[in-house]
Amino acid sequence: METYAAFASLVAERRSCRSYDRDRAVDPDLIRAVIDAARLAPSACNRQPWHFVALDRRPEYAEAVEAVCAVYPRPWFATVPAFIVCCEDHREAWHRNDGKDHSDIDIAIATEHICLAAAALGLGTCWVCNFDPAPLAAALALPEGVEPAVIIPIGYPCATAEGGEHRPATKRKPLDTILTWGKF
Ligand SMILES: Cc1cc2nc3c(=O)[nH]c(=O)nc-3n(C[C@H](O)[C@H](O)[C@H](O)COP(=O)(O)O)c2cc1C
Repeated sequence: METYAAFASLVAERRSCRSYDRDRAVDPDLIRAVIDAARLAPSACNRQPWHFVALDRRPEYAEAVEAVCAVYPRPWFATVPAFIVCCEDHREAWHRNDGKDHSDIDIAIATEHICLAAAALGLGTCWVCNFDPAPLAAALALPEGVEPAVIIPIGYPCATAEGGEHRPATKRKPLDTILTWGKF
């Protein structure tokens, strides 16, 4: 029960962060820790069809960070201290009998592990999918068949700003409108 209480408060407290403390770097060991949480995610047939590209503000990553910011040109994005580009590897994907590639589902689970692990460490994140994958794949030298699916900005939230940790949670549909027993 204690474990459930900790889990429930973690999922209730996680929210999209769109305002980061730009001067506070994220320890690369914390980036490794959240990606390790992704590594433990379940995947169809345990194929683990994913790869994660981590970037921070060290000069050697400046060009790649520029490419990330170029595919999602929003002022808040340009101030993010670190990014994780979550890529699905279609070469490793499990396909159902009808041909459905399950790597979209697998990368989503792994990505949310990252967001929850980050929240547990006091770090903010935000799912970002509204970008053109082709230029990003080229800039990150992704092999054919490896697709950037989600960009996760990661850093310490600004405490007061919009998107910061004190922002109220976004609305959710009431449980009884999304749950039926038996049939829809
Ligand atoms: C698949 C997916 C794609 C998303 N893409 C974006 C995006 O491109 N830009 C953005 O600002 N937020 C994006 N979001 C964040 C959602 O807007 C956010 O999760 C939702 O409004 C609920 O708010 P919360 O995360 O604070 O609970 C995305 C979320 C998901 C799950």
